[in-house]
Amino acid sequence: MHDRPYTLLSCGMSIDGYLGSAAPRRLELSNDADFDRVDAVRASCDAILVGAATVRNDNPRLLVRSQRRRDERSCRGLPPSPIKVTLTERLALDPRAAFFASGETEKLVYCASQRVREARWRLGRVATVVDGGAPIEMRTVSEDLGARGVRRLMVEGGGKVHTQFLTDDLADELQLVVAPFFVGDSRAPRFVSDGRFPWNAGRRATLATVRQIGDVVLLRYALSPRFKAG
Ligand SMILES: NC(=O)c1ccc[n+]([C@@H]2O[C@H](COP(=O)([O-])OP(=O)(O)OC[C@H]3O[C@@H](n4cnc5c(N)ncnc54)[C@H](OP(=O)(O)O)[C@@H]3O)[C@@H](O)[C@H]2O)c1
Repeated sequence: MHDRPYTLLSCGMSIDGYLGSAAPRRLELSNDADFDRVDAVRASCDAILVGAATVRNDNPRLLVRSQRRRDERSCRGLPPSPIKVTLTERLALDPRAAFFASGETEKLVYCASQRVREARWRLGRVATVVDGGAPIEMRTVSEDLGARGVRRLMVEGGGKVHTQFLTDDLADELQLVVAPFFVGDSRAPRFVSDGRFPWNAGRRATLATVRQIGDVVLLRYALSPRFKAG
């Protein structure tokens, strides 16, 4: 068994707790200053993980945007951007998606066992397909990433992925940004869905810092004794 990476969940949500709108296109919740902060956090990590629905809906590149930060990583002997990681059961992933097509960095797809052969055939040229088990457990993914040398993992959503990391007690830190508007549509994805969370009315999470960034607020929660304030 391998140590799991220090795991930081990063999320922007509306005042009413939505990650986006019900429309297929991406909803911008944050502002430029906060996007730059997120870029710095990305640059500090070894891997970034998102669910397959986020790859499909948002088509994110998941690269470090700042040239200075990419150069600093290169000077430290790291790839310019962290490893990209996604999870899928249904395997509805387009090999032309920006997740696969952008950046020289390694891409990992954890696929449910029953679709692994098909996944290697469809995505084998653009990513490393890993048999994630059936079902895929986040602990298995975390420990496998640890075995691959990932020491610091950033989980960027969406809600289904955040829910599993939180309910499985695998998160060391939550960086939650609240945007100053409502979505008001229950068809839209939420920050988390139903589950048994380790933090509840009887066991409150520790609010480590609060920071206003323009018109949004960043709430940083320490979720484990491994939390690093720096
Ligand atoms: N505001 C933000 O910070 C932020 C960040 C990221 C995303 N988002 C939004 O969130 C929305 C997506 O969120 P979401 O909750 O619907 O989905 P999600 O968490 O991005 O992805 C869910 C998908 O990931 C795969 N998956 C997750 N857990 C798995 C497991 N244990 N085993 C196998 N596959 C697993 C499945 O893919 P398959 O369906 O392929 O099997 C599942 O449908 C997007 O619309 C995006 O805009 C917002």
